[in-house]
Amino acid sequence: MFINKLFKYVATNKNNNLYTKLLSNLKYPANLNSINQRRYYKKIYQVNNEINKTENKTETNCDGKIKKWPSDNKTQYNFHPEIEAALNQQINMEFKAFYNYLSMASYFGRVDVALPGCESFFLQMHHEEHEHALILKNYIKIRGGTVNLCTINPPNDQDWKCPLNAFKIALDLEMSVADELVAAEVIAQKHKDQITSDFIIDMLLKDQMKSINEMAKFVNVLSGIGDQSLTRFIFDKDLLKNYVSQKFNVIKNNKKNT
Ligand SMILES: [Fe+2]
Repeated sequence: MFINKLFKYVATNKNNNLYTKLLSNLKYPANLNSINQRRYYKKIYQVNNEINKTENKTETNCDGKIKKWPSDNKTQYNFHPEIEAALNQQINMEFKAFYNYLSMASYFGRVDVALPGCESFFLQMHHEEHEHALILKNYIKIRGGTVNLCTINPPNDQDWKCPLNAFKIALDLEMSVADELVAAEVIAQKHKDQITSDFIIDMLLKDQMKSINEMAKFVNVLSGIGDQSLTRFIFDKDLLKNYVSQKFNVIKNNKKNT
């Protein structure tokens, strides 16, 4: 009883030093049974929470006025932390692809490689991945979650060698992104979050399937025609003409800029 009163006094008077001292000096007898130990730790937890609450209430803004924001209002509807973590992980995957495509675009734009079709195509892909990451970021926001960005590692090898090698790696990348999306959708289903499940399928997975299909076609075409200078040139021209939007056409944009 005495300990309870003492904890209450410390909590209501917001005396953190006394509280810390109290915790460090307070030693329970070694023969304390497990039920009393649990009660003891529960009490510490409760007092800790009370101190945090009182501290938050009196937190002030830079103008000295009492801080009223961020609020502790309920901002989430059935948005499980596991789903939030999976979507954050997905943002990282999109940025991984974003980084790889930027590296590929830079490689094919090099003066000693000079394949403007591949350069434009991967630049377009790079922007597409950025859009996917933003879609995920916005979704986490509207569900009342928190975006946690992680480190993006550069590709292991930034020498992409030839279009066939780059498209093979791009295909693997798209497949791993799809695997992560499917895993996130399974987590959403596990938590009965139909909204997230629909969002993943409609906004991301369908496009993902299209990308995989497109990359697989390029890999097959390139495997069939071989890697001679002339076939590279023809493939690159076709890629630029039929698969790249005006906005990302590096040749037209370079002309405009000059
Ligand atoms: Fe993507």
